[in-house]
Order: sequence, then structure tokens, then C-alpha cells
Amino acid sequence: MLDRDAPVTLIAQLSDLHVVTSDTDAELHVDNVARVRAVVSSVVREDAPVDAVVITGDLVNDEHPREYEVLAELLAPIDAPVLVVPGNHDSRDLVREAFPTLAWVDADHASWVAEVAGVRVVGLDSTRPGHPGAELDDERARWLETVLAVGFDGPTVIAMHHPPFATGIGWMDDSGFVGRELFVEVLATSSVDRILCGHVHRPISSSVAGVVAQVGLSPVQHVALDLRPGAPVSLVRDPVGYQVLRFATGERGGEIVVHTRYVDTVERPFRPRWADSVAPPS
Ligand SMILES: [Fe+2]
Ligand SMILES: [Fe+2]
Repeated sequence: MLDRDAPVTLIAQLSDLHVVTSDTDAELHVDNVARVRAVVSSVVREDAPVDAVVITGDLVNDEHPREYEVLAELLAPIDAPVLVVPGNHDSRDLVREAFPTLAWVDADHASWVAEVAGVRVVGLDSTRPGHPGAELDDERARWLETVLAVGFDGPTVIAMHHPPFATGIGWMDDSGFVGRELFVEVLATSSVDRILCGHVHRPISSSVAGVVAQVGLSPVQHVALDLRPGAPVSLVRDPVGYQVLRFATGERGGEIVVHTRYVDTVERPFRPRWADSVAPPS
């Protein structure tokens, strides 16, 4: 029977913000900053305030210090704790600097453990510097094993950038996950209730060693859904938003419900900076 008086914890998952500066040279497809602003504005207007915001990587687009300053300005309206992991577009060092209050592990990887109103969140750095793909080396596997071995009464969530499963979108899967078998091994011997990830810029879910793993929505351009083997790189403008996870029992194995909040980005015409180098038609 449902216990309507059970404690409830709400966590918003945002992903792949790809924040840029106004003078970026990146080839953008939408107004990234305006879209992130719209998403943040929606999060802070949630009728039921969230207890934390988890952002699963690719916080900025080009690892530039100024981009992290813009990111901080964009996230400033959020009162709740903001928990972030690096993605392949991030710099581990700059992410650590930009979020100094997170309990970063003293190691080569940028990982942490936090508690949010009875939910344990483990931020796992899945990045492989200089490479778009994922990596779980021995150091990270042992760290993960150790933190998951610590007893905890409530649910445990892992937040990581790269999904630890093949999505079927080949050109995204091709960058690979070095050490995925180690991750599965650790997971199989631990108590984890949910895995939150990003990187693929569209909502996807699967399960890994019996644990539900979900890719969050990105506010910027999405990867097209094309499951043909060998399908070419393709991006699409799908509806954007974020997920709100509702943890309803405060116990391990309890109910975790995931809602999707779509956000109207009310886009103005967007002219990227590089468009200035394109000659108008004569
Ligand atoms: Fe991304
Ligand atoms: Fe990524």
C-alpha cells in the first residue's frame, strides 16, 4: 500500500548545457545560453521546490574559464544545492574550481559523494581526457566500490556523464566506454537504485546489472533518433526540458518516479557569431 506520509525528496536532472560565451566560435545550432536560462527559470518556478539539481556533464562547450563564469551566472537563481559531474566538453580542474563546495575526491578523477535529504548521490567522473568517450580506470573503480560499500539507509543514485550502455545510435556509441566491464562488476556487487547520465542529448533509458540507467534531456540541440546500423551524424531540434525524480520512501529499493518537464524556450531568431563570415546571397 502507498504510504502517503512517507518523506519525499525531489531531484531535478539537467544535462549537457554546453554553455558558451557571447564571442564563441563554436558551430551552434540553437541559442544555448538562452535555452539554459529558460530551463533554470523553469526549475526555480517548480511548484514543489526541488531539494537539489544534478547536472550530468558537458556543463560548457569548450572548456574555457569564461564559459564557467557564464554558467555560474546562469545557475545563480537556483537556491538548492547544484551537484555536477564533468563531461567530455569540460575541464576537470575548471569544474572543480567552479563548484568549490562539492566534496571532490582527492584523486585524478573529479568525483564526489553527497547526501540530499536522505538520498545518497555519487558523482562519478566518467571522462577520458582528450577523448569524447568514457573511462572507468582501476582508481575510479576502486573508489566507487569503496564509497558504495559504506552503509546507507536511503536510496543511492550514481550521476555520471557517459551512459554505461550502448544506445543503438552508432556514431555516439562509437566513442566507447573503456572499463565498462569494471563498472558492471562494481554495480553487480553494490546497492545502487538509479543511474543518471547524459552525453547523448536525448532521453533514453536502459538497465545495467539490473539498475535503471537514464539519459537526461539536454536544453541544446538533440541527437537525432536514427537506429540504422551505420547511420550518419544527425542532430535535431526536439522538445527540451529536464527530469524531476521523486523519491517517495526514504528507503532502499523504494519508489523512484521520474517525471519529464518540457520547457518552452520561446526562441528568438538566432544568428551565431560565425554567420558573419558567411557571405549573403547575391
Ligand atoms: Fe553533450
Ligand atoms: Fe558529452
